Amino acid sequence: MVPQALRGTTDLLSDEITRWLALEQAVRRLCVVYGYQELRTPLIEDASLFLRSIGQTTDIVQKEMFRVHDRGDQEMVLRPEGTVPMVRAYLEHNLHKTDGFVKLFYMGPMFRAERPQAGRFRQFHQYGVEAIGSASPWVDVEVITLCLHILRECGLSQSTLWLSTMGCREDQQRSAERLRVQLQPDRMHLCKDCQSRFEKNVFRVLDCKQKTCQKIAQEAVRQINQDAGKAPPTPFSLCDECAKHFDEVRSALRDSGIAFDDTQVFARGLDYYTRTVFEVRHAGLGSQDAVAAGGRYDRLVEEMGGPPMGAVGFATGIERVLLAAACEQTQGEVNPTRRGVYVAVTEAGFIREGFRLIQQLHNRGAQAIMSYDGKSLRAQLREADQAGCQFVAILGERELKGRTISLRELAARCGSRELGKSERTVPLEAFVDEVSQHVKPPCH
Ligand code: HAM
Repeated sequence: MVPQALRGTTDLLSDEITRWLALEQAVRRLCVVYGYQELRTPLIEDASLFLRSIGQTTDIVQKEMFRVHDRGDQEMVLRPEGTVPMVRAYLEHNLHKTDGFVKLFYMGPMFRAERPQAGRFRQFHQYGVEAIGSASPWVDVEVITLCLHILRECGLSQSTLWLSTMGCREDQQRSAERLRVQLQPDRMHLCKDCQSRFEKNVFRVLDCKQKTCQKIAQEAVRQINQDAGKAPPTPFSLCDECAKHFDEVRSALRDSGIAFDDTQVFARGLDYYTRTVFEVRHAGLGSQDAVAAGGRYDRLVEEMGGPPMGAVGFATGIERVLLAAACEQTQGEVNPTRRGVYVAVTEAGFIREGFRLIQQLHNRGAQAIMSYDGKSLRAQLREADQAGCQFVAILGERELKGRTISLRELAARCGSRELGKSERTVPLEAFVDEVSQHVKPPCH
């Protein structure tokens, strides 16, 4: 048997790379438009960094970290997420002293030892932003707006924004006590994981995928809210400041015309959150339906040894965005992947002239290929189509005599319908100039 990639990891073949590059390009462009700058951190970090900041009782720390030992005593982990490394880098490079409020974005692989299933991988990729150094609710709204803007740009129109608040640490302590009291009578009916969550981190019960636990949790939250006479149904009892913050976020989102659902009960799987939390869900994704998630973490910078300062961010799963976009791809969408030029020759004797053109195109950074095997014109045209080229330039006897070249634009498709082909004759001297404007590879 030939060797295979590990379960929960995937190779990206060139067809998919085109879609990844387009997505990465959209992320970079929009992050810059919103004033965020890229920061790249290592894939490997000291284990203690995550143990302290993500929370000892979270699933990530308890069972999902890939731990690595060097030859000495140092324990390292493959990064399971991007927020903590970004804050580490922010503090390590003294950005809090030089720049104060900083808006950063990142993109790259993350690693979690989860049980692989559709949409859940052991090596997956996220892009995300972290706005560090402000407690303003306007920053929450900016971050959410950017998160949704990128998803729209990637072709997602059917996602739902779930919005909630977890209050400050004091609110969380008070609310945890209240939730435990409410869950106590049903405690024995919770799943094994939730029984231990009940003690260690009771909010995680709200996130359990087991139907019985979900029913018990929802009833507990309903009762808490009924007793408190409040809506929406978050189990958190908020102090005045946190309630005001949440109202301001919701009001600014409404002003911006951003629809959200604040009636869902959900908890985030990381302990650093305070106040605003959100998830973007996509119905096409089945059980792993969160495409993006984020929120405020106003205590993390301080807990990691920095000054007290507010921060908020999100991360989006790239594989899930692409899966969701594939679900939404409609008949109306124009095939966006045709790129580059294929130089076809009608006789093997013309390869030399074709090769000269290809070299000139490459020197201009234009995407161009040809066959050197003396294939028939028909076979070359088929190859150009299969390679997804936008143009085929045909060099034959008639063309060479007239110092011209025939330039054919291959049809874009709309669903299964072709959008028409065009063909024209271009003077040979003008060909490289003309074509190289159109056929830059996607990363340009
Ligand atoms: P998270 O909810 O753990 O949050 O992950 C964010 C997104 O990453 C998820 O919504 C999902 O799309 C994707 N994701 C997570 N795990 C997997 C997996 N095993 N396979 C495929 N995709 C996955 C965070 O990571 C926080 N750092 C977000 C954040 C940024 N909060 C504030 N700033």
